[in-house]
Amino acid sequence: MDNKFYITTPIYYVNDVPHIGHTVTTVVADIIARYQKLLGKKVFFLTGTDEHGAKVAQAAEKEKLTPKDFCDKVAKVFENIWPKLNIGFDYFIRTTDPRHEKEVSGLLEKIYQNGDIYRAKYEGLYCVGCEKFITETEIKNGSCPYHPNKPLEKQSEENWFFKLKKYVPTLIEAIENPNHSSHYEIKPESKKTEVLARLKAGVNDISISRSEVSWGIPIPWDKTQTVYVWVDALMNYYSALKINKNEEFWPADIHLVGKEILWFHAVVWEALLLSACLPLPKLIYAHSFYTIDGQKMSKSLGNVISPQQLLEKYGVDGTRYLLTTSFPSLEDSDVGLEKFTKKYNADLANGLGNLVSRVAKLAENSGMEFPLKNNNEIFRKVQKEVIEDFRFDLALNNIWSTDVSAIDKHINQETPWTKSGDQLQQILQYEIDEIRTLAKKLKPFLPDTAEKIEEQFKGPKIKSSTPLFPRI
Ligand code: MSP
Repeated sequence: MDNKFYITTPIYYVNDVPHIGHTVTTVVADIIARYQKLLGKKVFFLTGTDEHGAKVAQAAEKEKLTPKDFCDKVAKVFENIWPKLNIGFDYFIRTTDPRHEKEVSGLLEKIYQNGDIYRAKYEGLYCVGCEKFITETEIKNGSCPYHPNKPLEKQSEENWFFKLKKYVPTLIEAIENPNHSSHYEIKPESKKTEVLARLKAGVNDISISRSEVSWGIPIPWDKTQTVYVWVDALMNYYSALKINKNEEFWPADIHLVGKEILWFHAVVWEALLLSACLPLPKLIYAHSFYTIDGQKMSKSLGNVISPQQLLEKYGVDGTRYLLTTSFPSLEDSDVGLEKFTKKYNADLANGLGNLVSRVAKLAENSGMEFPLKNNNEIFRKVQKEVIEDFRFDLALNNIWSTDVSAIDKHINQETPWTKSGDQLQQILQYEIDEIRTLAKKLKPFLPDTAEKIEEQFKGPKIKSSTPLFPRI
């Protein structure tokens, strides 16, 4: 199916409730999904929750709930918040769904049959925060760089191992050679370089089962062990399609992830797929992180920003706009409520909102009619380029610095309030058509606002209305 497009977000751990880190990934995935739909693609957009493993089991215990009851509770919070941000996922997968569990068992069985799984002993330092063994080179000041407050646990177990090393030459070739039958892309370029360097430096096989963690899917041929939570989680991208009976969407067009989980998505997942004889995803995009007012976002610092907080303050499209313009595409991006409010007032209340109400008022006062024209050319070339390069921050900046400000300038130069008759009609018709095109451009980013503008400006008569973005 050539016309299809499959995009995924990471599935989020339920040990935590949603914060703006999860939110930005999911909003951007929604923008990509909406953009691809505008291009005429049939889109499947997947998100969900990652519910097995030690970390989730420990969080459940803390709340004195069974793991399943705890997961049911938190998964709902994730599933319910996304629609409030106008995020239109097609399916919400939960790894505790028995249908997912069945697919995981099936895939693992296949990998086992292929001779890629063996038994061995593992000893190492485990970070429960990351749910992975940490290598010597990753350790910073004695702890995990992502979870400095969580002590590393020395673990030694007999486990099932996957022959990751065996696949390294194929993976390097598949990444580097665009003509390779399994070619896939890793973006941005700097992240691809990092993955290749690590692959070339040498990779060990990985343990894919745990004997000490009971909250997981049993290994099909050895019920004394459970499937390592990362293997279980990665397989969601495929199992979700099987559950929905639309495997034709495989392989995924984009796995959108944060930089800390790129290795799993760009190496481990592909090796598992190769072993299971399935096609590889086409592209993995790893974005960077938000920091809050110069600091790492963390519960212990008490600086975590939730999507609910943003929604209350800035509304749905205000939130989408602020997250997208600060999207940490290449590097970490520093945000904070003060910065958000400034930007909201400048770009939305004074910028777009003011422009729309100004033109509507002029049109209303003129009493004239403004017929709708067909305009198929939506995005400028440069706008298309940055969108396709995942630079949603640049895309919105460009729309504001060219489209929004050009219409503003036109009004100031042409001073329609001093004109009448044909001259006024011509000036306003131009500005109204430009606003109509602007609304089309805003569709993937700010769907509600785009719809409101389209409705208000559909003509032939245009009326003024309440401000789109009340000043804060
Ligand atoms: N459960 C795994 C993913 C399994 S995917 C098969 C996991 N979950 S998580 O809840 O920790 O979510 C990680 C994702 O949240 C990141 O990849 C990123 O998308 C997002 N973010 C978490 N913190 C973030 C920031 N501070 N800034 C931006 N995004 C961040 O890992």
